[in-house]
Amino acid sequence: MTVIAVTGKGGTGKTLVSALLVHFISEKNGKVLAVDADPDSNLPDALGVAEEVSKTLGEIRELFQVSRDDMGTMNKEQWLEGKIYGEAICECPSYDLLVMGRPEGEGCYCFANSLLRGVLRKLIRYYDFTIIDSEAGLEHFSRKTIDSADYIVVVTDMSKKGLATARRIKELSNELKLGFKDIFLIANRITDRMAEEKIRRFADEEGLKLIAVLPYDESVAKLDLEGEPVTRLPEASGVFRRMKEVADLFLKFKITA
Ligand SMILES: Nc1ncnc2c1ncn2[C@@H]1O[C@H](COP(=O)(O)OP(=O)(O)O)[C@@H](O)[C@H]1O
Ligand SMILES: [Mg+2]
Repeated sequence: MTVIAVTGKGGTGKTLVSALLVHFISEKNGKVLAVDADPDSNLPDALGVAEEVSKTLGEIRELFQVSRDDMGTMNKEQWLEGKIYGEAICECPSYDLLVMGRPEGEGCYCFANSLLRGVLRKLIRYYDFTIIDSEAGLEHFSRKTIDSADYIVVVTDMSKKGLATARRIKELSNELKLGFKDIFLIANRITDRMAEEKIRRFADEEGLKLIAVLPYDESVAKLDLEGEPVTRLPEASGVFRRMKEVADLFLKFKITA
């Protein structure tokens, strides 16, 4: 049960990185849970399994809010567990997928969220790897339904905002005491040597371990235009090859407890 949370500024390549991690890790290792935790995100599209998703976790939470008073003595945690296992977890060819969906509406969701946290903690234990395509930043991490990760992967491009977000995540990761084992940086859309040197310096200065430098990749842009999943990237693609190496690195980190 190794939990990897992928974060960074919007548009930097979080979904690309998450989808390829799910793809390569599940190819080699039995049980992977892919979690789409970004309300603006499209992990199911990037994986090519959008039609498989039936209910989001958010929808089940709403259902719980309206039905909980009529549940009588029924165990509410079991109710949620049954709904999540039966209706929200989508069984894709080589991995399972859970979409968090929209954040909660008005009203008090503390009880629902606290139950959900327990159910998800239990759920994660069934998988060798849980890969979370997270919202930008870490600010909300501590009150999230999945509230802990073993590894944080920050994705950035060379934009000022991307780098500033990466820096802030690193600072917050120390302050919030999230209890993770390591925090890594992946630089994306790097077009030349100068940019690569610049990102290496940035990683050194910020104390982030740079585990991959991904080039700007025409084949990623082409698939995007055609609405095709990133799992169809050709083997010759630079992004494909480097992300395969990152997946191999994480496979060595498998935590079996
Ligand atoms: N290395 C790359 N080369 C070309 N296009 C890329 C690359 N990385 C990401 N993109 C494109 O940039 C956009 C944002 O990527 P995405 O993974 O959705 O970012 P995020 O999840 O961080 O918002 C997508 O259209 C994606 O296809
Ligand atoms: Mg995304």
